[in-house]
Amino acid sequence: MPRRIKWLLASLAVFSALSVSIACGDDDTTKTPTPGATTGGSATAAGSATAKPLSGDLEIFSWWTTGGEAAGLQALFKLYPSQCPGTVNIVNSTVAGGGGANARQVLTTRMLGNDPPGSFQVHMGHELTDTWVTTDKMEPLDQLFKDQGWNDVFPKGVLDIVSYNGKPYSVPVNIHRANVLWYNKTVFSSNGLKPPTTMDEFFTAADALKAKNITPLALGDVDSFASVQLMETVLIGTLGADGYNGLWTGATDWNSAKVTEALNNFKKMLGYVNSDHSSLSWDQANDLVIKGKAAMTVMGDWLEGDNKAKNFTDYGYLPSPGTAGIYDALSDTFGLPKNTKNRDAALCWLKVVGSKAGQEAFNPLKGSICARSDCNPSLFDAYLQSAMNDWKSNKIVPSLAHGAAAKPGWMTGISDAVTAFVANKDAATLQSRLVSACKSAGVCK
Ligand code: GAL
Repeated sequence: MPRRIKWLLASLAVFSALSVSIACGDDDTTKTPTPGATTGGSATAAGSATAKPLSGDLEIFSWWTTGGEAAGLQALFKLYPSQCPGTVNIVNSTVAGGGGANARQVLTTRMLGNDPPGSFQVHMGHELTDTWVTTDKMEPLDQLFKDQGWNDVFPKGVLDIVSYNGKPYSVPVNIHRANVLWYNKTVFSSNGLKPPTTMDEFFTAADALKAKNITPLALGDVDSFASVQLMETVLIGTLGADGYNGLWTGATDWNSAKVTEALNNFKKMLGYVNSDHSSLSWDQANDLVIKGKAAMTVMGDWLEGDNKAKNFTDYGYLPSPGTAGIYDALSDTFGLPKNTKNRDAALCWLKVVGSKAGQEAFNPLKGSICARSDCNPSLFDAYLQSAMNDWKSNKIVPSLAHGAAAKPGWMTGISDAVTAFVANKDAATLQSRLVSACKSAGVCK
């Protein structure tokens, strides 16, 4: 079975009843106006072009506030006037917080209050479909995809995941990989160590580093996605791709000895992290690696964008321990909410996001590869070229922490259990909570 279809099945198999968590957080959105440009044509109903000039404010909502994230977003904003002539003023509406939990809270409040932004960042898969599509809050984009010829440039598996009842509902701007171990090359070489490829090698290297007073593994889980993502990579590294995929379909028992082994590995790993992890963000954890205070961190490849923005080049990368040949994938997408204020301008934003020029401008800065399959590899650095090759040849599995593997209610149950575990280190309780979360999601009996 083709790998992308496997990802699709793993994602779709757990689609079920709607699970929208109604969040009550304050709207701490910050708005940074971005200048628009001159006059020209615009996209209207169902994606077709007319001569009507675009104007007004266009609010683009995301959680992209760190170096590479902000740089990628700005590159798209910069491109907007050339593809969407008019006088549109892009309002960069961000809610900080890696992984987007804070942003999703604000977004939920706004969507339920019928105050949607022009377009918003949302992960491909359950995060989009189970939250906003099945509740009829998004416009289908089939005409736009047709007009732009996108049915031929996005891989079939990607098109399937952004679609519901045969129609696409968002435009994927990238593919990220979550299971990457990043390390400081000098820290490893000057201590005569080899970066670890297996769990055992990880613990051997970690002991050697600890003996030299270097933090083996940097973690910044002030935003809980970081520890959830670390657990997800350990589950993949211990269960393998098929075993991990089975967790989301009911085929792998959450109560099995293999899951126990994975959770014990996770617990052991947490014994090697910086003591201030719960007050740091993922990019502040990366600063520890950059400064050589820590040797490694497990993070998605947006960290590569962070390194680029910070001019740090002394880094190496490997699949996280035990995950060689597996691509733990997620995708950032943008959609068109119903009743959005400046619909034509928003539709044209989607055009930019899905365009070859847009993806080639955005992804090299963001540390991701194009969701389109026709981007020019020579515009991408060595890491991203290696990711492009792996995306074509590896087994693809869906990321839990980033909205692809589980519907939002299930994901929240897991995330709460992991947050408690990181504090109390009680692996048996974590496993029983994971078993219950699967039952509550209706996937396990
Ligand atoms: C992910 C998102 C990435 C990156 C990361 C850290 O959820 O897909 O684009 O922004 O969070 O914030």
